[in-house]
This record gives sequence, structure tokens and C-alpha cells, in this order.
Amino acid sequence: MVLTAAERRARELRARLDEANYRYHVLDDPQISDADYDALLRELLDLEEAHAEVRTPDSPTQRVGGAPASGFPEYVHVRPMLSLANAFDESELLAFDARVRKLGGVDGDVAYTCELKIDGLAVSLRYDEGRLTAGGTRGDGTVGEEITANLRTIKSIPLSLRDAGGAVPRHIDVRGEAYLRKSDFARLNAARVKQGLRPFENPRNTAAGGLRQKDPKLAAQRSLSFYAYAAGEIDADDPPRTQWELLAYLQRLGVRVNEHAVRVSSMGEVIAFVERFEELRETLDYEIDGVVIKVDDLALQAKLGSIGKDPRWAVAYKFRAREARTKLLSIEVNVGRTGTLNPYAVLEPVRIGGVTVTNATLHNLDYIRSNDIRAGDVVTVIRAGDVIPRVVGPVLELRDGDLPLYELPTTCPVCGADVDHPEGEVMARCTNATCPAQLVERVRHFASRGAMDIEGIGDQLAAALVESGLVHDVSDIYALDLEKLLALPRMAEKSASNVLTAIAASKSRGLARVLFGLGIRMVGGQNAAILAGDFGSIDALAAATEDELLASEGIGPEIARSVVLFFAQEPNRAMVRRLRDAGVDMTAPKRERAPVGPLAGKTLVLTGTLPNLTRDEAAEMIVAAGGKVSSAVSKKTAYVVAGEEAGTKLAKAEQLAIPILDEAGLRALLESE
Ligand code: IVH
Repeated sequence: MVLTAAERRARELRARLDEANYRYHVLDDPQISDADYDALLRELLDLEEAHAEVRTPDSPTQRVGGAPASGFPEYVHVRPMLSLANAFDESELLAFDARVRKLGGVDGDVAYTCELKIDGLAVSLRYDEGRLTAGGTRGDGTVGEEITANLRTIKSIPLSLRDAGGAVPRHIDVRGEAYLRKSDFARLNAARVKQGLRPFENPRNTAAGGLRQKDPKLAAQRSLSFYAYAAGEIDADDPPRTQWELLAYLQRLGVRVNEHAVRVSSMGEVIAFVERFEELRETLDYEIDGVVIKVDDLALQAKLGSIGKDPRWAVAYKFRAREARTKLLSIEVNVGRTGTLNPYAVLEPVRIGGVTVTNATLHNLDYIRSNDIRAGDVVTVIRAGDVIPRVVGPVLELRDGDLPLYELPTTCPVCGADVDHPEGEVMARCTNATCPAQLVERVRHFASRGAMDIEGIGDQLAAALVESGLVHDVSDIYALDLEKLLALPRMAEKSASNVLTAIAASKSRGLARVLFGLGIRMVGGQNAAILAGDFGSIDALAAATEDELLASEGIGPEIARSVVLFFAQEPNRAMVRRLRDAGVDMTAPKRERAPVGPLAGKTLVLTGTLPNLTRDEAAEMIVAAGGKVSSAVSKKTAYVVAGEEAGTKLAKAEQLAIPILDEAGLRALLESE
């Protein structure tokens, strides 16, 4: 046969791409870069486009193809796909082994393989003369659904077998598990949440859903993976005689096999393997729910046979469950040491993996909303290793009527102060600097280097001061004396007097350091310095309105709002008074500002949504150009910058005949001069 140049090149490209695929997806040992792979694939696509006759059905370009199916045809298993009996503890494993020896007529130890039980879906792949011709689900074990087009999208399933040394079988049914990696699952869900879609519940269901897609393009998007672990019919010259040989045989044919499988020669080794992977399961990038133990010798397997669908030659050791369903009684909130409101689930007690679970984390409001979790739901709870149990999501079929959407409390459940939850931020926070839940962290921060720099008050002393009841807010630091400090555990006279010296010295650090030390949300060291310079005293700052704060360079609406909210809390104001009474200097040399720039001396008002700028960004640009930003339109307003869905401020501006700018107009103005 004479090959055309195009055919020769196409063959070469296919061989190189198949090799690259095999190294990447089966051996986990890629040898060419993604970019090189893409370039080869691109060349092959172009070649096949120009010379349709060189395209073959097993070309790497042909993974995602065919029209969407309307239903799946039947897929008949010539040899039934069996299931497995379960063992839940060591004694059941020993009973399995005893029966194998008795029915198999074996004296002494039986050789077994131990394989991880991958938590996905069993599928069967038909290869004729080395080519993948069809594939189907397990179904009832005798008849499943034919899902060839979807299986072809799985990159660890070869479209054609390799003949590494030996001969490729004339026919083989390769069986194994289609599954979704945890990392792929996380990536898929992150993308879904971004698109405002409900995240998938778990990798297994997501894989199952992927295989049942009518359109192979959608199946391909789930990036499923595959591990082979068995064979149905084999027509080959020298077929494997043990399970261990079968795994090696499959691997040689280019089919992916899990690397953790072992062959053992005694039950003791089986038990050691099971225990090891019960520990290691969290570290794997795929979910396993147990270990499958198989008699290694295929002739002995045949002799043992099966009862119903369960072979007598294999058993599944099931790990203790990690997931359970229970009722979500209520959603409560605790307050973290930085003031975050952390919602958690109060559950009807449920046993998971040998532990009774009554609480589980719900992370934050976004998590609750995007997973549509509501009090009263039956929910799935997962407990992985030592990690805090987590509510995965509701079982929607079991939802009873209309349950109300969850709302975060607007006041702190610990101290009752206002809660701040800025738009676009994940966590809501308590605004009270004296809130007991945050006290240790507040004291530690106040005393830290960048703040009041009180050497000696670190994590440990901060905790001791709060626990002993000596400190209820940071102003109490200034009421400490030698006697009080010496009453604390492990406090020596020398270190106590050092701490007192440091406390006394901290009184004169000035307003900027105090402001930073107070831990007002969004007021870091730099903003504290700006505000201190512009306002000169804590009283002036505490009395400032949002508009007045916005006039400070670099202070945007969110920061202004946060400052006003902080000083609106009576406990915070009382604490500031106590700091003053203790002699803490809360003044700063006032910086005179003579605004310069194209907007010097001009006040602008922002309304509506601008196409490319957030409010903060626009405000920042205006301030940087010497202007001020105000939230109210008046005769003094120089310009109103209006975006999409501008409201009453725009109307007011029109009424007062104030010039109105869009984003482009604002930019032009900023660039003038
Ligand atoms: S062997 C008799 N090996 O577990 C042979 N099954 O509960 C039956 N599974 O339907 C299959 N990993 O979906 C076997 N290494 C493994 C497995 C495995 C996962 C699944 C498979 C099967 C189910 C049986």
C-alpha cells in the first residue's frame, strides 16, 4: 500500500498524540508540554480538515463527536457485571477468607489482590481488534445503557489499545470505574458558583450526570477520569491467569490502572492494607469508599463461582461512612476572634463514622445561599477525617413546603452591637471593639508593633488578661498595676514591671497609632495616618460625617461608612473616653491640605453604576485630582457623575442644572490640564 504524504503525516501525528495522551493520562508522567500537545493536535485537525480521507474513528481529534442522543440504546453485557458483598470489620474479612479456603479446597494462605474501591460508576468498554467500538453502564448487570460517545470523551480511556510487546487481543471487554477527581470537582463547582449556578453535591453524582448527558460536549466538560480493574470476555492468545496479571496486562494495553493495587499472600497483609488506606483516603485526589479484595488466581475464582450477583471470590471492605443525612434544626451564629459572624448548623444528632455529630459549619452567608440551605431541611452532612463536619446541601426532594431563606442577624449575637456586612465582602462582622468574643484578638492587635507597641503583651498575656477578667476592653490595659499583673499565672516581678513601663510609654504614640490599634474595619496603618493627619483629634474624627471623611485623600465610601459605623457604637465611644481619661494621647499634628489638581476645590457626586469603575475607584480618582466626593447633590456640587440606573440624585442635578458626566466625561475631566 502506498501512502500519501498527508496519510503518513497524519499517522505520525496520531502516534505522537496517542503517546502523549498515554503518558499524561495513564502513566501520569507527561513528556511534552501542553503547548506542544496543542500544536500537534492543531496540525492534525487542519490536516484532517483538508484531507477528510485521512481521518480515522480513533483519531485523537474524534473524542467529542456525534450528534446529541435522544435516549440511550441498550448495552448487553455478554458476561454479567457482578456486584460485591460488603465486609464492615476485620471479623467479616476473616469469615470471607475462611469460606474461600473451605469452598476452594485450599490448604494454607490464599493470595489476594487488594485494590482501592473507587467511588464512581462501573462501565464496560468493548475493544475489537484493538479499537474502542462501544461502551456502556453496568445497569442491572446484564443490560446497561450504551454511552459510547460520552465514554470517548474520557481522556484516560484509550480509543485504541497499545501493543506493547505482546499482541493486542482480538476482543476484550475492559471494566472499570468512571469517576471525577476531587480537584476537577472543585474546579467545576467554582465555575458554577461564579455563573450563579447551584454547585454539584458530590463527585460521584456529578460523574453519573456527566455520563448520562445527551450531548457528548457536555459530558466532555465534566473532565471525567477512568481506572480499569476487571475484564469481561477476552479473546487473546495468551490471556492473563491471575487478577494481578490482568492488571499488568491492562496497563500494557495502555489502559489506566490504579497504582495502589497490591498482591498479598495472607489475610494479615489485607488488613494492613485496609487500615493504611482508611488513613490515607483524604490525601487522594479521588474518593474511595473502601477496598476490594479479590482472589488472585482466576481458576480459583471460576471454581468459587457466585451466588446471585455477588461473586464468592471477592469482597468489598467498606470504610466507615463519612456522610449522613439529618435534619437541620436551626442556623446559629458564633462570633470569631476577629469579629466575623460564622454561621453553623444545629443538627438532629446523627452518627457519622463512629462519632455523634450535632453541629456542622456553614462557612458564610454566600455558602448558605449558593447551596440553598434552609433551616428545616433534611441535609447531607460530611465528616472527613478530623475536619469539622460540614453541611453539603439540602436533599431537595425531602423539602417540606416553603422554608424561609436564611438571613444573618443584624446585631451581634454576643454583644448586641451593629453588624457590618459590606457589599461584595464574604464575611459580616461585629462592629464593637469591646465585644467579648473578639477581646483577646483586639488586645493583642492594640498592643502589637504597628499599633501601640506594648512589648510583653502578645498572644499569651492578652489571653491571660482577658480570661482573668482584668481587661474588658483595651482601655483597661491602662488600669493595670503591679499587684494585678503579679496575680496572673507565670508572671514574674521583672517582666511585670517591664510591661508596665511599656504601657506607660504607649500613651504618647499619638492618634494614628491609636486609630490603627482600635481595629476599625478597613482602617489599616495607612488610612489611620491619613485620617489622623486630616482630622487632628479623635473627637473631630468621631464627629465626622461620611461626606467629610470622603474628602480625605484615599478614603472611599466603604471606609467612610465603616468609620462612621464604628463611632456610632456607644460601647466604642465609652471606650475612647476611658482611653482619654487614662491619659492616652489621641491627637495628631493637623495637616493643612491645599488641594491641587484639575478638580481642586470641586465637589462631585457619584450615582448609578459606571461601566468600568467601582464607586471606590471613581472616588479615589476624584480625590487624587484634588476634588471631593459627596453623597448629596446641592448647589455647591460641581458635577454629577451618573452611570446605569442612576436615581433621584440625577433628577436633582437636572433640576439644579448641574453639569452631568458619564464615565468618559469624568475621565476627560481628570485628564484636563
Ligand atoms: S470489582 C466482581 N474492583 O464497586 C467484580 N469494583 O460494589 C466487581 N468498584 O460495581 C467489581 N472499585 O463500581 C471492583 N477496584 C475495584 C472497584 C470496584 C470500585 C465498584 C464497582 C462495582 C462496585 C461493587
